[in-house]
Amino acid sequence: MDAKTTRRIKENIAFEAARTNPPAGFPRLPDIAAARYIDPQFLELEKQGLWKRSWLYAGHTSQVAEPGSWLLTRNTGTPILIVRDLQGELHSFYNTCRHRGGPLVTEEAGQSRGFVCGYHGWSYTLDGQLKSVREKRDFVDLDFACRSLLPVRCETLGGWIFINEDP
Ligand code: FES
Repeated sequence: MDAKTTRRIKENIAFEAARTNPPAGFPRLPDIAAARYIDPQFLELEKQGLWKRSWLYAGHTSQVAEPGSWLLTRNTGTPILIVRDLQGELHSFYNTCRHRGGPLVTEEAGQSRGFVCGYHGWSYTLDGQLKSVREKRDFVDLDFACRSLLPVRCETLGGWIFINEDP
C-alpha cells in the first residue's frame, strides 16, 4: 500500500472518529428492514458486491513472522492461505490445489517449506509455484507455469495483513 493511500485511510478514520453528526448533506434514510440481516439472498448479494471486493483483515504479521510460517483465514468466506516465503515475502493464495481442487492445508496455522496436497501429492513452493506431481508420466502436456496456486491480493498496513479477492 503506498504512502498516499495510507494517509488517505488514516484521514478518513480520523474524520469518522471525530464527527458527531451525519456528514453535511447526508440524506435521511429509512429504517433498515430486518430482512437485511436474515435473508440468504441479501447475504449472497452482500458477499459478491461487498465482501469479495473489499480489503479485509486477515491476521497480524506476528502470526507469520518466520520464513515458512503460514495461516489460514476464512474472513472472506473462502479459505485463503497467508504465507511468508523463505525470502521473507508475504503471499496469499486460495487454499485450493490446481489439480482437482483439494485443500492444501487443513490446520489453521503452521510452518513448512512448501505445500503438498493430500489428495494426489502435487507439491508447491511457498510462493505458490507448482514444483512436482506424482506419476509425471501421466501428465504429458502439463505446463507447470500455468498451475501455480491462484493468488489473492495481500498487503500490510503497520503490522496488519489485509486481503482482497478482487484482483
Ligand atoms: S487434488 Fe491436489 S493433487 Fe489432486
